[in-house]
Amino acid sequence: MDDLPGPPDAMRSEIVLLRDGRGATIRPATVDDAPQVQENIYSIGAEVVYILAESVGNDLDAERDWIRQFDGVSSVLFVAEVDGMIVGQGDVHPGRPPKESHVGTIGIAIRDGYREVGLGRALMERLLEWMRDRQFHKACLEVFSTNARAIALYKALGFEVEGVRRRQYRILNDWVDDVVMGKWLG
Ligand SMILES: CC(C)(COP(=O)(O)OP(=O)(O)OC[C@H]1O[C@@H](n2cnc3c(N)ncnc32)[C@H](O)[C@@H]1OP(=O)(O)O)[C@@H](O)C(=O)NCCC(=O)NCCS
Repeated sequence: MDDLPGPPDAMRSEIVLLRDGRGATIRPATVDDAPQVQENIYSIGAEVVYILAESVGNDLDAERDWIRQFDGVSSVLFVAEVDGMIVGQGDVHPGRPPKESHVGTIGIAIRDGYREVGLGRALMERLLEWMRDRQFHKACLEVFSTNARAIALYKALGFEVEGVRRRQYRILNDWVDDVVMGKWLG
């Protein structure tokens, strides 16, 4: 009998074609990525309006420790690389109490200059594929109510709004709601 190829491994390294013609490699992060991962999140945090982190330290050992905690089994960190530069990252953390261990919380951040060309969707799809492979039943995330682009992407992927924490954040003198979204994976 012919050997049929098995299902793709969610931990693979794969090049995805972006709408602007560039290719992005989506792959699990390694500790060697620490400087670039730090720079990626620093640049997005500095924009203030998208993610909670505003300043990250420059402690590379702490960054390496942070990357090491993603074991690829109960948690994962993927990066997206274009021309050798990390321009995006996405991670999943499991719920810690046993009663919540079926839930994975997603975080995603793509650098300015690499947005709206399909990378966010590709990274989210890989995170969801990994979660299904690892038998998670539910994906959840939190997003600022002002982040229309992110909310549109999550809804397009089947996430639903499960709750809103009103005026949970103060961002650049505006009160911003925290939108809690979830997707049942079955
Ligand atoms: C939010 C984010 C992940 C989206 O990823 P992206 O690569 O920019 O988006 P994509 O090109 O994959 O577009 C995904 C969908 O978003 C929607 N979208 C794109 N730009 C949009 C815009 N300006 N307004 C509304 N919806 C938009 C489209 O419906 C698109 O759907 P399609 O795939 O069917 O075309 C990315 O922009 C990002 O990381 N931004 C900064 C950090 C951040 O906001 N992180 C999320 C915190 S919760």
